Amino acid sequence: MTAVVRSAVTGVGGYLPDGVVTNDDLAKFVDTSDEWIRERTGIQQRHQAAPDQPVSDLAVEAARRALAAAGRTPADVDLIVVATTTPDLTFPATAAIVQRKLGCPVGIAFDVQAVCSGFVYALSVADGFVARGRSKCCLVIGAEEMTRLMDWTDRGTCVLFGDGAGAVVLEPVEGQGTTADRGLLGFALRCDGSKQDLLYVDGGASTNGQIGYLRMQGNQVFRHAVVNISEAVTAAAEDAGIPVADFDWFIPHQANQRILDGVARRLGIDPAKVIVTVAEHANTSAASIPLALARGVQDGRVKPGDLLLMEAMGGGLTWGACALRL
Ligand code: ACO
Repeated sequence: MTAVVRSAVTGVGGYLPDGVVTNDDLAKFVDTSDEWIRERTGIQQRHQAAPDQPVSDLAVEAARRALAAAGRTPADVDLIVVATTTPDLTFPATAAIVQRKLGCPVGIAFDVQAVCSGFVYALSVADGFVARGRSKCCLVIGAEEMTRLMDWTDRGTCVLFGDGAGAVVLEPVEGQGTTADRGLLGFALRCDGSKQDLLYVDGGASTNGQIGYLRMQGNQVFRHAVVNISEAVTAAAEDAGIPVADFDWFIPHQANQRILDGVARRLGIDPAKVIVTVAEHANTSAASIPLALARGVQDGRVKPGDLLLMEAMGGGLTWGACALRL
């Protein structure tokens, strides 16, 4: 066996803003009901950031928790990758703002924009730095305030999303080049730009100069989700050289309980192995996977040495999956 450097997750942290909006709260001003939202999505509530709480504040809090869990401090961080579709400003990158707020030294910091798939994409990008010796302590953060992109008159979208952030610390560890190694073991990343019209935001600096609102053909997105996600999960498991059945935990992007159930059914995954937060968090886009991971680690289900499969699909359409051993 040849020694190889892997990128290992050494700390995990999640942060949700204090504000909670229930389905009944929404039903006061949107033509919807708690019953409809629960039945069609599994969502019961979502968190919402305060008006003066930019997404970098959520990211910083999640990052502090991940660093503490890893036994690291901001002084150790040499790379920050933030996956977000709701940045504080058009520029600088939210990662640069996070670096300043955390008080990290001069290093590398940039954002990745792949919407709900952003965390999986960001992990893959960060892996390129860490596993090649270009970063010794990296923060990968998924942070979103999706509620800022809602058209509150569109009941087909505004009930689905929430705000939050999750972070992991990635550090290099030496492995043997086998599936017993700790760290990131396999990826599958995809984008089909021809499906843009199914899910997008109708604003941007170089088009109409607006922030815009999220627009979605929900039932079309739903049709693609189960098929695309299942394919990517299978491909990431193959890339890692590990059968899907051997993974201990499945940590999906949390968009809709019916999508989670459909993917688990299609791949023959035991629902008891799926970490689910959609009921309390709703869809937090790039933040949902690290938030679900943080939940699983905190409550003791997900343990060091466990094999994890993460997956997501979102605007682009982008989708992807990642296999790792914690
Ligand atoms: N409350 C009450 N009724 C509603 C609501 C609401 N919030 N939203 C839509 N409806 C109505 C529609 O107007 C429609 O009424 P009509 O039959 O009188 O025209 C009816 O419900 C059915 O609408 P559909 O869109 O066909 O409902 P569907 O069962 O597909 O559920 C949903 C909609 C929940 C959006 C579903 O399609 C979905 O979850 N899609 C995936 C979208 C998603 O998760 N996107 C996130 C990003 S991508 C990702 O993360 C995977």
